[in-house]
Amino acid sequence: MSSPDKPTLTTRQGHPVHNNQQQRTVGSRGPATLENYHFLEKISHFDRERIPERVVHARGFVAHGEFEAYGTIGDEPASTYTRAKLFQTKGKKTPVTIRFSTVIGGRDSSEAARDPRGFAVKFRTEDGNWDMVGNNLQVFFIRDAIKFPDVIHSLKPDPVTFRQEPNRIFDFMSNTPESMHMLTWLFSPYGIPKNYRTMRGSGVNTYRFVNDRGEGVLVKFHWLSQQGEEGLTEAQAAEIQATDLGHASRDLYEAIERGEYPQWELNVQIMSDDEHPELDFDPLDDTKIWPREQFPYLPVGMMTLNRNISDHHNENEQIAFGTGVLVDGIDFSDDKMLVGRTFSYSDTQRYRVGPNYLQLPINRPREDVLVSTNQGGGQMSYGVDNRGANPHVNYEPSSIAGLREADESYREYRPFVSGHIVKAPIERQNNYAQAGETFRSFTDFERDDLITNLVNNLSQCDKHIQEKMVHHFTQCDEEYGRRVAEGLGLAVS
Ligand code: HEM
Repeated sequence: MSSPDKPTLTTRQGHPVHNNQQQRTVGSRGPATLENYHFLEKISHFDRERIPERVVHARGFVAHGEFEAYGTIGDEPASTYTRAKLFQTKGKKTPVTIRFSTVIGGRDSSEAARDPRGFAVKFRTEDGNWDMVGNNLQVFFIRDAIKFPDVIHSLKPDPVTFRQEPNRIFDFMSNTPESMHMLTWLFSPYGIPKNYRTMRGSGVNTYRFVNDRGEGVLVKFHWLSQQGEEGLTEAQAAEIQATDLGHASRDLYEAIERGEYPQWELNVQIMSDDEHPELDFDPLDDTKIWPREQFPYLPVGMMTLNRNISDHHNENEQIAFGTGVLVDGIDFSDDKMLVGRTFSYSDTQRYRVGPNYLQLPINRPREDVLVSTNQGGGQMSYGVDNRGANPHVNYEPSSIAGLREADESYREYRPFVSGHIVKAPIERQNNYAQAGETFRSFTDFERDDLITNLVNNLSQCDKHIQEKMVHHFTQCDEEYGRRVAEGLGLAVS
C-alpha cells in the first residue's frame, strides 16, 4: 500500500514497479528477456548519470543564501555610482547561490590542494541574474584570454603520465613573467585556504558601474570573510587529505546544518573610467591589485549563506555561471580577459549541460522575472518561454502579436574607443613590482612558508627552469630571489 511517507516506486512513465529485485528471465536462471521496460529505463538512465565535468573548477560545493544591501557605497548613496537595483535600498534582500571550487583537480579530487579557489555568486535580482565569477587570490596568472588554455594545460596533469608535474608548470610560468604576482600568493599559506568559510573572494577582473545619468566608473569587487582568513601549511593539508578529500565541502555543509551561517561583506574599489597614466600599472590588468590606500574598500552589503542544496547533480553539476551575466547598472570594462571569459563560459555550458541549460531551475531567473524570448527547440527543451497571448508568433517585429523591445529610454553607457586593430601586449606591464610588495607585506611565517613551498616544487624542475624562476623572483625582490636560489643550491649572480 502506498503512503505519503513511503510512496510506491514507479518508472518515469508513472507505471508502478512491482519487482525491483529481479530482471525478467525465462525460468529463474535465465536467459534474460529484453522487453522489460523498467529494467531498460533503469539501466540506460544509469549509463547516462554523469555530464562532462567542468574543464576547470570541476570540484565544488554549492549553498544558497541572501545578500542584504547597505543602500550606500562607502558614505555615498549607492545611486551615485550605479543604478543596479539590488544595491539601492538599505535592507533590501536578494537571494543568492554560491559555488566554491578548486580549479585543477577532477570532480572527486582533494579540497586541500594548493590551487586557487573559485568564488562564484549568482544574485537572483528582479532584473534577472547577475553572476560574479571570482577567486580567492585577487589576481590571476595571465592578462590575455588567449593564453588561458596554455596556463591550464601546464597546471593540469601531463598528457602522457597524467601526473601534475612542477617541471611543466614552472616551464610555462618562467616564460610568463606576469604570473609572478599570482605565484607569490599561490605558494604562500593563502594558496591552501583552511576551508571555504575562512577565505576571501574577489571579482579579479574590472567591471563598470553605470548610474542613472549614464555615467560610468571602473569597479573591482571583494568579498571579506566574517569568519576571518586562515590557510594551511603543506603538512597540515597532507594530514587532512590522507583521510578526507572533501573536508571543505563538509565544513560548509555542516556549519549551515548547525545554523552557523557564514557571512561575507561585499566591498568595492572605484576608479574613474580612464587609462590613469599616473599609475605604474594598467587598471585593466588582472595581474595587479589596486592599492587599498589609493582606492579604499567601500562596503556595499552583506551575504549570508543559510540553506544547503537538496541535490548535488541538479544544483552543483548543472549550475552555470558566466561573466557575461550582468544586470542593468553593472557593465563590462575593456579588460582583455573579461571578453574572452564571457565567450568561454556560456560556450562550455552549451556543451557541458546542453543548449537549454538556462531553462533549468538552478539557472533560470527567479519566479517574478518573466523570461520572454523567441528561442525554442534544441535538446531537452523543457518548456516554451513567454511569447505573449499568440503562440503562433515566435518572431519579432510583428504587426499581429508577439514580443516588443524594452523601453527606449534605457540609457546605455557608450564609451568611445578608437585605435589601430593590433595583436600587442599592454604597455605598462610592470610584472614584478607588486609581487615584490606582496612578498614584503607577508609576515615572517608567510615568507618562510612561501620559500619552502617554492623550493620543494622547483627542486623537481630542470636547472635552466630553476635559474629562470630565480631571475624573475630576484626582479620582484632581492631577498625573494636569493632565498629561493639558496634553497635550490644555486649560485646567486
Ligand atoms: C580568459 C580566462 C578564463 C577563461 C577562458 C575561463 C574559462 C572557464 C571555464 C570554461 C570554466 C568552466 C565553466 C563551466 O563548465 O561551467 C570556468 C570556471 C570558472 N572560472 Fe574561469 N576562466 C578564465 C579565467 C578565470 C578567472 C580570472 C577567474 C577568477 C577571477 C575564474 C573563475 C572561475 C570560476 C570561479 C569558475 C567555476 C564556476 C563554477 O563554480 O561553476 N576564471 N572558467
